[in-house]
Amino acid sequence: MTNSPTSITLALPKGRILAELKPLLQAVGIIPDADLFDETSRRLQFNSNISELKIIRVRSFDVATFVAFGAAQLGIVGSDVLAEFDYHDIYSPLNLGIGRCRLSVAEPIRTVPIASNDDLTLLSHARIATKYPQLTGRYFARRGIQAESIKLSGAVELAICMGLCDRIVDLVSSGKTLQQNGLREVEVIMDVSARLIVNRTAQKIAPGSIRHWCKIFRESTYAS
Ligand code: PRP
Repeated sequence: MTNSPTSITLALPKGRILAELKPLLQAVGIIPDADLFDETSRRLQFNSNISELKIIRVRSFDVATFVAFGAAQLGIVGSDVLAEFDYHDIYSPLNLGIGRCRLSVAEPIRTVPIASNDDLTLLSHARIATKYPQLTGRYFARRGIQAESIKLSGAVELAICMGLCDRIVDLVSSGKTLQQNGLREVEVIMDVSARLIVNRTAQKIAPGSIRHWCKIFRESTYAS
């Protein structure tokens, strides 16, 4: 997709943040094609009531990649994804206050008393399934534990049930997924919420347009 200097592409994530975004987009004055919010739709690009604003809908991890490489000038993504990638070409001027959850360590609910070689605080090595190998490695390294991360793209909870690992690092919101898979949250690594993100080059090429969008997202966020 080629953009004129004032044309803006906004990258939005599929899934939980997208559902919460509907009222925010409305408050900002963006009315997207209706099937943006229909996750059964296979469309990837959408128009809006604002002719110079295009929207793409991608996986949450890919929002950061599209914005970092300048294929989209703006994006909305969880702070978990930003922390995992740490892209220098992205800056994140605004916490949108939606998509709140936490990135946590979880382990099986034990029916017998914990053995000392199974206590997370006493381990020197742990095998952990996660979508976040960088954050996981850094968190455990700070605690003096060498983490062997097994990278998965989803259904991380299943990895423990199938004997792939001892623990997982994953997002927890209601806690239902953990509960339904016989797991419990043991440590919170970080609190997560959705952020507006901006490509740094776009900020230099089209400062007026980027400033405009940041301003109305900020006003709508603080007003809600
Ligand atoms: C996320 C996360 C957990 C679940 C937690 O998965 O990875 O699996 O939600 O939510 P809960 O605490 O409210 O149960 P998502 O729905 O994004 O799907 P995925 O596992 O395929 O990534």
